[in-house]
Amino acid sequence: MTRADSLNIVAFLGSPRKEGNTDLLLKETIRGIEDSGASVKTINLNQRRIKPCQDCGGCEQSGECIIADDMTEIYGDIRRADRIILASPIFFFSLSAQTKIMIDRCQSFWCEKYLLKRPLPQGRFGRKGLLIMVGGMKKEIGVECGSATAKAFFRTVSVNEHAVLSFLGVDAKGAIAGHPAALEDAYRAGRNLAAV
Ligand SMILES: Cc1cc2nc3c(=O)[nH]c(=O)nc-3n(C[C@H](O)[C@H](O)[C@H](O)COP(=O)(O)O)c2cc1C
Repeated sequence: MTRADSLNIVAFLGSPRKEGNTDLLLKETIRGIEDSGASVKTINLNQRRIKPCQDCGGCEQSGECIIADDMTEIYGDIRRADRIILASPIFFFSLSAQTKIMIDRCQSFWCEKYLLKRPLPQGRFGRKGLLIMVGGMKKEIGVECGSATAKAFFRTVSVNEHAVLSFLGVDAKGAIAGHPAALEDAYRAGRNLAAV
């Protein structure tokens, strides 16, 4: 068994568009990871039942969210992950709502790390991340805002280093396939992420 075989990798797809630009980029990233000998659990956030954070304070004493929905499984996936991929289109200058709802529910990890002083452990391979974003406009602000939110998420779940891949001016469904370098970049990012 190679070391890459043992990596726990979870990927969050934050676009509602099947075969859309984020989906295609993520698939190439996963191809790169799988060619490295590792496998990926992909979570299509648009298909999950996730209630937005209620700011109820239920996680403050325990670090555990009290809402019972699909986040229960996702909390376990994040807890166990050695590598986390966040892939989102840019919607209104930031990450998609599908992505942001999941991130907000990670407030329980925030409490666990910063209030209870119990950060998620680094595990055998360290915890690393990859952020993939694609926007239809050519305005950098979407990438800047999305990056800030994603960084806060990653650090909260003890992912202390992450790579960023972003593409702007890609709007039509599947248009990323016509980009001169994007899919190759995504594949390479996958290989890099699986390197141990
Ligand atoms: C609700 C909505 C809001 C959007 N807002 C932005 C935006 O603020 N900036 C931008 O660059 N593109 C914006 N777009 C365009 C998408 O980012 C673009 O179409 C992208 O390629 C979609 O990726 P997907 O195919 O993976 O869903 C928006 C699209 C939608 C549907």
